[in-house]
Amino acid sequence: MQSFNSKLQNIGDSIFSVMSQLANGQKALNFSQGFPEFNPPQQLIEFVNRAMVNGFNQYAPMPGYKKLLESVAEKERIIHNNNLDADMEITITPGATAALFATIQALVNPHDEVIVLDPSYDSYDPAIRLAGGRPVHIPYDIQNLEFPWEELELKISAKTKMIILTTPHNPLGLCFTREDFECLAKITEKYQTIILSDEVYEHMVFDGKKHVSVLGIESLKYRAVKISSFGKTLHTTGWKLGYLAANKILTAEIRKIYQFLAFSTNSAMQIGVAEFLDANPNWELGLSDFYQSKRDYFFNKIQNPKIKGTPSSGSYFQMLKIDHGFEMSDYKFAVELTKSRKIACIPLDVFIQDQPQTNWFRFCFAKNDDTLKQAADIISNL
Ligand SMILES: Cc1ncc(COP(=O)(O)O)c(C=O)c1O
Repeated sequence: MQSFNSKLQNIGDSIFSVMSQLANGQKALNFSQGFPEFNPPQQLIEFVNRAMVNGFNQYAPMPGYKKLLESVAEKERIIHNNNLDADMEITITPGATAALFATIQALVNPHDEVIVLDPSYDSYDPAIRLAGGRPVHIPYDIQNLEFPWEELELKISAKTKMIILTTPHNPLGLCFTREDFECLAKITEKYQTIILSDEVYEHMVFDGKKHVSVLGIESLKYRAVKISSFGKTLHTTGWKLGYLAANKILTAEIRKIYQFLAFSTNSAMQIGVAEFLDANPNWELGLSDFYQSKRDYFFNKIQNPKIKGTPSSGSYFQMLKIDHGFEMSDYKFAVELTKSRKIACIPLDVFIQDQPQTNWFRFCFAKNDDTLKQAADIISNL
């Protein structure tokens, strides 16, 4: 048995793999991992196939194919009013996770502090530690679903290199407003803190609200990085395709790392996605309505006085508070639920640093209506 000094001690398989495996083994409905139950549009699959047949099977250029870079720049301009230079300010990556990793490795130096708002996507913390940085975890006020402004002001200092935000938030479903970003700009101005804004659910914002991107905030965009995921936008999480956008200086620095992390990203999919987005200019604009009707269907079908929650404002996750009455961790309860009631979800305690029991659970509603109905029936009968 080889012995070595693990760089990520106490890190096992992610909760998403654990719960998905359990769901499969138990033949349970899998509302845990964040992926759609349905296929991407047939036309997109055909465009990717055609790109392969047409010879897009070798390395793509490091930052991405021009066609896709230009398509992203155009979308950013039309949808968010962000003016980006396609060549110098956008980089296509193998999913948002790789974009996050490259950004953190590039911009965080040993001993830098990085503020992470809990519950947080599970790749942030290890990526910071691998860069030699120190994650500083600040919890959201979960019971009131509020951003912890006071604690942020207390914890921010000259040592804070970066703050990582998620908007729309996974798992809480909260969305940063323009006022929130402006408040953040004021708090961070003195230290010129970099804002890494994970916006993978940017096209799933409900009840008439509009997504606000960090790059749309004048006072922040020169020190901000935006991350997005075609996996979320095109129902293709398994394709691992995403992008990062930032000004030229930050982009150049991040690309130095990215070229050694992956060098470039799947050629045929880049071409297929670019062609699909060009052929369907309103694709992203339809996603909010599409997912809002799923949220409403699922949420309204659940009739159980023991279950609490407010409808998600964005993302494809719904948080539900289940007062299960057991003195057990959220995690144990979620395992129990998967085994006995055949529905898997993600317990909230695993997203939080010191893992207190919260009784909150995340359900992914990117499912077909009959699956949503089955799940709502199970939850209603708990
Ligand atoms: C907040 C957040 N960021 C990043 C990702 C990863 O996206 P990708 O699959 O494109 O790497 C996810 C996926 O669940 C996510 O929820």
